[in-house]
Amino acid sequence: MTATDPSKNSLQLTADGQLRHFLTLDGLNRALLTEILDTADSFIEVGERSIKKVPLLRGRTVVNLFFESSTRTRSTFELAAKRLSADVLNLDINTSATSKGESLSDTLLNLEAMASDMFVVRHSQSGAPHFIAESVTPGVAIINAGDGRHAHPTQAMLDMLTIRQHKGGFEGLKVAIVGDVLHSRVARSQIRALNELGAAEVRVIAPATLLPRDVESLGCTVEYDMTRGMKDLDVVIMLRLQKERMEGALLPSEREFYRLYGLNQEKLALAHPECIVMHPGPINRGVEIESAVADGPQSVILNQVTNGIAIRMAVMSMAMGGQMAERSRKLAGRAQG
Ligand code: CP
Repeated sequence: MTATDPSKNSLQLTADGQLRHFLTLDGLNRALLTEILDTADSFIEVGERSIKKVPLLRGRTVVNLFFESSTRTRSTFELAAKRLSADVLNLDINTSATSKGESLSDTLLNLEAMASDMFVVRHSQSGAPHFIAESVTPGVAIINAGDGRHAHPTQAMLDMLTIRQHKGGFEGLKVAIVGDVLHSRVARSQIRALNELGAAEVRVIAPATLLPRDVESLGCTVEYDMTRGMKDLDVVIMLRLQKERMEGALLPSEREFYRLYGLNQEKLALAHPECIVMHPGPINRGVEIESAVADGPQSVILNQVTNGIAIRMAVMSMAMGGQMAERSRKLAGRAQG
């Protein structure tokens, strides 16, 4: 297996295949995804200590740049950076100069002038983290915390860590992603990760209006009927209806959506008895999931949140390591030249 797909990864990987930015799972191979999961596993123990810190990013400055609202991702990135001993700056976009018309590029130039080492970026525009990675000062790592409908790679990796913990691996697993796939960056990253890690089947279950055109090309099968779709599942991942991204009426009503696609105990009983229930959050009880299921014995929703810290520690430390290795190589090359 090659370490990289050079056509897709010249931006996010170093010449020898180490992470230097983390923008998308596209083009990352199973070995690298497994390295992220294994590194995260090693950080879980840190979160169980009385002093939850390791010095891997001591002296480094991490800037959280969230142009969209967030609870889980922003908090766990902040905790992860602090557990790695970084200095953390959370820029409040609503009270920053962005609200006075400053462009993204100018905001970044000013933050770079403060000797920042890493930007964690959430943005409503697909591709914003790529755009920043293309123009940022060498040595500064960019981590995608969710961009438009495109990708949410750390969410998908914390989901993979949670599945691996509960199922032991991915071989033979049947996984369904249910609901608003059309607007979901999470679903795109999950489908990519599950296929690369060797899941037997990734199924999407949704009405046609909430599926992207040509959805099978992402690497999944399609089921429109949830009663049929729940059969034999090992993992069911529920998605929120992303009303903020919907243009026009894609559903008859929320009540009708819940009747057909909401996960309740009756529908869950159609899956494998040990099927786990996942949701990236925020959950909307009574819209896509019943409280008895969200809080029930098969739910691992809060484990996902906990695992977000370890995955984000892994990705941040690996990207900083890649940046440092690249810098050393360049310095050595200059010294020889
Ligand atoms: N899963 C997720 O991205 O949640 P937040 O929007 O709260 O960060």
